[in-house]
Amino acid sequence: MNGNVDYVLLSEEQIQNRIQEMAEVLSREYAGKDPVFVGVLKGVVLFFSDMIKMITIPCQMDFMWISSYQGTESKQMIVRSDITSDIKGRHVVVLEDVFDTGNSLDFTYKHLLTKEPASLRICTLLDKPERRNPSVTLQPDYVGFTIPNEFVVGYGLDYDEHYRNLPYIGVLKPEVYQQEQGEC
Ligand code: IMP
Ligand code: MG
Repeated sequence: MNGNVDYVLLSEEQIQNRIQEMAEVLSREYAGKDPVFVGVLKGVVLFFSDMIKMITIPCQMDFMWISSYQGTESKQMIVRSDITSDIKGRHVVVLEDVFDTGNSLDFTYKHLLTKEPASLRICTLLDKPERRNPSVTLQPDYVGFTIPNEFVVGYGLDYDEHYRNLPYIGVLKPEVYQQEQGEC
């Protein structure tokens, strides 16, 4: 285990088993629909690549990259890199690492909706309902794991761009954050 990780919340085996179950559901529900799976970078990369290998029906993949920045009055989101496929009339499933406040997926959902897909659903590996922004009414359609209000790393999720490569999901030791603050 990585020395900065306090404890493992979800093991590699738990994650892989759950993705297998989700892939079976998606393969059944989207059979004959040639769905487009859209991954939201960067956190989704590990989840996306494991999931897509377990999907047993014809499908396509695309990616988008969104960022948030502090605007003049509030936090704004921008599309840094858009999908390249035409999704008009297509069945689209957005894959995301974590549904936290819901702000980024709400923005992503509205953005993709303007492209007039036949259907648009959200599939997230993790859901943290306690952190939801009350003004976000969007709910994920497929959830891998509902987790408590903890900041987690690994399996695509980062702290300061590190730990994305861990094959499991864990919680960092408190001193990792304290060290960072001390250095600032
Ligand atoms: P949102 O708050 O639902 O908009 O989530 C936005 C993004 O915050 C996610 O896509 C992640 O990149 C990041 N995020 C939220 N919770 C965590 C966490 O526990 N660990 C690492 N990144 C997180
Ligand atoms: Mg992040």
